[in-house]
Amino acid sequence: MDNDTGIDDALGLLYLLASPEAEIVGIASTAGNVPAPQVAANNLALLDLVRAPELEVAQGALAPLAIPLRTTEDTHGPQGVGYAELPPSSRTVSERSAAQMWVDLARAHPGEIIGLCTGPLTNLALALRMEPQLPQLLRRLVIMGGAFNHPGNTTPTNEWNVHVDPEAAKEVFDAFSAAPADRRPIVCALDITETIEMKPPHLALLAERAGSTPVELVTEDDPPHVRSAASNPLVRFLTDAVRFYFDFHKLYDQGYLAHMHDPFAAAVALDPDLAVTKPATVDVELTGTLTRATTVADWAGMWGREPNADIVVATSPEQFFERLIGRLGDYALT
Ligand code: BDR
Ligand code: CA
Repeated sequence: MDNDTGIDDALGLLYLLASPEAEIVGIASTAGNVPAPQVAANNLALLDLVRAPELEVAQGALAPLAIPLRTTEDTHGPQGVGYAELPPSSRTVSERSAAQMWVDLARAHPGEIIGLCTGPLTNLALALRMEPQLPQLLRRLVIMGGAFNHPGNTTPTNEWNVHVDPEAAKEVFDAFSAAPADRRPIVCALDITETIEMKPPHLALLAERAGSTPVELVTEDDPPHVRSAASNPLVRFLTDAVRFYFDFHKLYDQGYLAHMHDPFAAAVALDPDLAVTKPATVDVELTGTLTRATTVADWAGMWGREPNADIVVATSPEQFFERLIGRLGDYALT
């Protein structure tokens, strides 16, 4: 997993940790929601939270390929995990860079590694420069990023992950231009991830499944909020993290809910059957004065170029939430 933890990245990582069929071989931390060292610290602290075994966490580049870093603590909280506060971990960051880890793992296990990117694509772009065969070496690649027939969440047309490092996103999509159909990245863009809305009752169900004290929704306040005093540490973390995301979405008039961008991508990485996809040729605008960092999908071969992505066009949010709640709830019990 290559992430910029990040509230929803944290949920994505926890989803993978809670999934018995997944073996996590490396966590790459990319600069995005918060700076890369903070992302790495968050990833390590999350491993502590769930008493995970030793896992490699590598730190990525401090800045995007061609522009200064922009972070978004107003969306994800001062540390990147909402209202939650994770104590510093005594685990240490890997000595190799995130890009080097991508390359080494893919070369060591050709055809076996599933790559999941839930942050800006800086590390993956650097890895592709080091190993242009990466598309052939991976078993599957799932990317959370982009907005196609859908407004952006950062500018009118930009999705955050692509907005932070558009040059990297372009390099990644370009690198897959000659990839065979079964190697095309699966792209979970805002078009689909904004249909995956977590609401307070989902947290309540999670707490119930984990045998934790209930998570209450206080409706007499405006905005309504979730009261967090869960006895279970994982449920408490999730509630404190997601509560911030609820408040953020409410602030922008999207409702008292949280879009599950990254956990959805994690679920698709493990089970692509969760998603209906459509092939397209994706490119990234790098020069527009209003539209720089916009992702454009050619669905009909108008550019005369082979498809380089399978874009998720439909899913079942109910099935996704059933899995998320079931897995995280059961994991919290252990
Ligand atoms: C993406 O932006 C980030 O803030 C989230 O973690 C997610 O990966 C959604 O646009
Ligand atoms: Ca993210």
